[in-house]
Amino acid sequence: MAGSSAEQRVIDAFRRLYGSADGIRAYRAPGRVNLIGEHTDYNLGFVLPVALDLATVVATAPASDGMLRIHSEDRNETAEWLVGEIGGLAPRRHWTDYPIGVAQELIRAGFEIAPANLLIRSTVPDGSGLSSSAALEISSALALLAGRTLAPLELARLGQRAERGFVGMPCGIMDQYISVFGEERAAICLDCRSLKHQVVRLPEGVEFVAVNSMVKHELASSAYKERTEQCAAAVEIVHRNHSQVESLRDVTPAMFEEAESSMTPVIARRARHVVTENARVLQFVAACRDGAVEHMGELFEASHRSLQHDYEVSCDELDFLVDAALGIEGVYGARMTGGGFGGCTVNMMRPEVVAHFKQEIAGLYHERFGIEPRMYPCRPSWGAAEAKSF
Ligand code: GLA
Repeated sequence: MAGSSAEQRVIDAFRRLYGSADGIRAYRAPGRVNLIGEHTDYNLGFVLPVALDLATVVATAPASDGMLRIHSEDRNETAEWLVGEIGGLAPRRHWTDYPIGVAQELIRAGFEIAPANLLIRSTVPDGSGLSSSAALEISSALALLAGRTLAPLELARLGQRAERGFVGMPCGIMDQYISVFGEERAAICLDCRSLKHQVVRLPEGVEFVAVNSMVKHELASSAYKERTEQCAAAVEIVHRNHSQVESLRDVTPAMFEEAESSMTPVIARRARHVVTENARVLQFVAACRDGAVEHMGELFEASHRSLQHDYEVSCDELDFLVDAALGIEGVYGARMTGGGFGGCTVNMMRPEVVAHFKQEIAGLYHERFGIEPRMYPCRPSWGAAEAKSF
């Protein structure tokens, strides 16, 4: 990838914006699609994401005027601060909260923020559930480190802390982890408790396609927080009889059945989703290894229904996309992916039906909602790295 034209174009854009500079470096961090294991990460369970070839690239070079200056191409906006004031900045619900949150975490970890110019370019669509936030956090962290080393797991955790603490989204570790640890041609099965992963090769003869509903409902972040609280409430109930239980990850189906009648119906549904979803991830990984594509498809659908009815984080647009996909010949399975309330579905199908699938889905979705969905092939790609130094 080093020296590829995409990276060279970012460097050229950097020179046009900031004038020619020595020591320009560029760092790339990918977005992701999660194949299965939704809303399990903050319950310390299992997830199975792939890093995409959609990514954020941050180019950087030292500045001589004591400032940190960041330009976002997407917003066509530049923001700047004296490096000395970065540690004391408050969030302002703005795209700069991501790099600034990361900068503050770096300061806390003992790194000095040096004066620098940064340019951000991204192909990860915003608000699409493909984790543009984590891609921005991780690529910014690498750019601010500018060659100083931080262990990969620490990099992922630092990105997550920035999002939770500064941006204010109480997310799990999945998005930042896969952005750092992504593998070409494989998914990563992450145990969110041990923070260790296995590389899971995807079987031949299956293509994964993400379909962007192009909607993001307002509810998304308040409902996310509410789900984390409901999961904590469920844990507290199971804990009464099983003191070793510290998260929904520890709850077996038998424990859940025993505790269910002590839970309100809503709390019970939330817990059932997480308990069954964790089991589905492990079954999906086994099915992947056996090349049992039909079974993988069934697990996709079961996951969606659980998110739709038990966890209640889907929406009409996502349900429609899933139902429509399941009606298309050659599609093995479909489900929403990411936090929900909009964003993308992920669909698995036989390679020879991809073109027909795209055409059908686009037509049906447009007819129902008047929206053209965007689609992305899910080509598993490498995790974050320096793109090239110049
Ligand atoms: C968002 C969060 C992740 C994860 C997913 C749901 O993407 O950032 O940590 O919780 O939602 O699986």
